[in-house]
Amino acid sequence: TWTQDEIISPSKLEMFVDELPNLTRIQGFNLINGTPKPKLLNIGMFKKKWFTASIPGPTIEALHGIDTYVTWHNHLPSKHILPWDSTIPTAIPSTKKGIPTVVHVHGAIDEPASDGNANAWFTARFGEKGPTWSKRTYHYRNMQHPGNLWYHDHALGLTRVNLLAGLIGAYIIRDHEVEAPLRLPSGDEFDIPLIVFDRSFRKDGTIYMNSTGNNPSIHPQWQPEYFGDVIVVNGKAWPRLTVRRRKYRFRIINTSNARFIRFFFTNGLQFIHVASDSVYLGEPVVTNETLLGPSEIADVIIDFSESKSDAAILANDAPYPYPSGDPVNDINGKVMKFIIEKNHEVDTWRVPKTLIKYPSPDLASASQTRYIVMYEYTSDIDEPTHLYINGKSFEQPATETPKAGTSEVWNVINLTADNHPLHIHLGLFVVLDQTKLVNLEEFKTCMTKLNDAIMCHISKYASGKKIEVPAHEKGWKNVYKITPGYVTKILVRFSYIHSNVSYPFDATAEPGYVYHCHILDHEDNAMIRPLKLIN
Ligand code: C2O
Ligand code: CU
Repeated sequence: TWTQDEIISPSKLEMFVDELPNLTRIQGFNLINGTPKPKLLNIGMFKKKWFTASIPGPTIEALHGIDTYVTWHNHLPSKHILPWDSTIPTAIPSTKKGIPTVVHVHGAIDEPASDGNANAWFTARFGEKGPTWSKRTYHYRNMQHPGNLWYHDHALGLTRVNLLAGLIGAYIIRDHEVEAPLRLPSGDEFDIPLIVFDRSFRKDGTIYMNSTGNNPSIHPQWQPEYFGDVIVVNGKAWPRLTVRRRKYRFRIINTSNARFIRFFFTNGLQFIHVASDSVYLGEPVVTNETLLGPSEIADVIIDFSESKSDAAILANDAPYPYPSGDPVNDINGKVMKFIIEKNHEVDTWRVPKTLIKYPSPDLASASQTRYIVMYEYTSDIDEPTHLYINGKSFEQPATETPKAGTSEVWNVINLTADNHPLHIHLGLFVVLDQTKLVNLEEFKTCMTKLNDAIMCHISKYASGKKIEVPAHEKGWKNVYKITPGYVTKILVRFSYIHSNVSYPFDATAEPGYVYHCHILDHEDNAMIRPLKLIN
């Protein structure tokens, strides 16, 4: 255990000192006589000191239609650097030695065996393997639309600590044929992933995570949300970047465990959204602020020629937990600084009027309507003990069993006080609307008893005011913020969106997929359910 004064007081750290690191980029394809060919990558996970480590990991740049194979190697020691909790469903090797890991590419449309199932974990040198482990080398087809993905650990009950320890990286799928004509800022200098997360550190520079739970007699370590006071971008605390007076493209990924971040510029610079998590928008959307829940992505153009000042701070004003937690302070309310060169330049990049149009959601085509209910359970001392979807644990058999190639309507009902970013593997969805539940307490009482939205007359309660989906979030997404006390209606598509080609792999194979809350502390205990496709 560590006492408070062993933790670095972030107010003692000087901000905007380190340059934003240029993340290593590795190509997910071979160029043979100018023709791209499939490639096998070997990527290892190691225990390192922060300043010698590559955190985040390398950005994988894949090409649409060219297979990338990755053998993810676990070189981690026998003991975790962070406290974890064996009283929540957790991958525990029988020897009690080694750190289980398994990698999921978030946003990838690929076979179940390469999806990084929570039980497909393995320890160092594949010494021990989880029950659904089936192979060493994962196959990413990159057959989907171009866009922004990221990779991270997904081991059962350890996701929150494995990501905190640094097992994350960006993964971009490019399709020059459709992207080059857009003439968006490109190349290493102008197209930059920003991987943002919050952490706390001890005075010796190691990551700090509280080792005592909020309900220690039930869960000795587990806590409902991890928040750190230091905001880290591409591995550096509050970095700075000197930019030219022209357009840049930033792929901003919120990889925090639990922190929502509402970005804005202190000098009024705007965000020109071109894509969200994974998919391009039909046309650019301009906003003054951008709210990202954990795992959401904003792919934006920032035009520094519009800046009235020579410096701009990218800041954050989202309460934590979101939406009704503490307000941010001077410390966790700052993200990074841009220093803008004085000289104006001729800009060769542009923001086109239209981007890439994908088919709009077709409600009439939905073959199923489901109700997905988010519950939180508390102890005698009124502290959360666990969170479940539909009142079910992860181990209980799949109840969401869509047919491959179809679309479904999911009504996601949030009966908790917090916003939960819901992420669905494989499927892509469009958020249709969010409707406030009236007489929420009455509805909750019924749901606690019957756990059945129809028997509890959901249509009677889902009749409050509606929140309009913001224009930049109207496109296809794989994660969305589920507002507390509302029903969020989404149309989920279990097929590609850029073509009517059916999946070139068996999406119904074992071990299937999952869907879950992307607050990692919730996902681990156990706001996660299997998603099993059928024919
Ligand atoms: Cu970003 Cu199931 O994960
Ligand atoms: Cu959650």
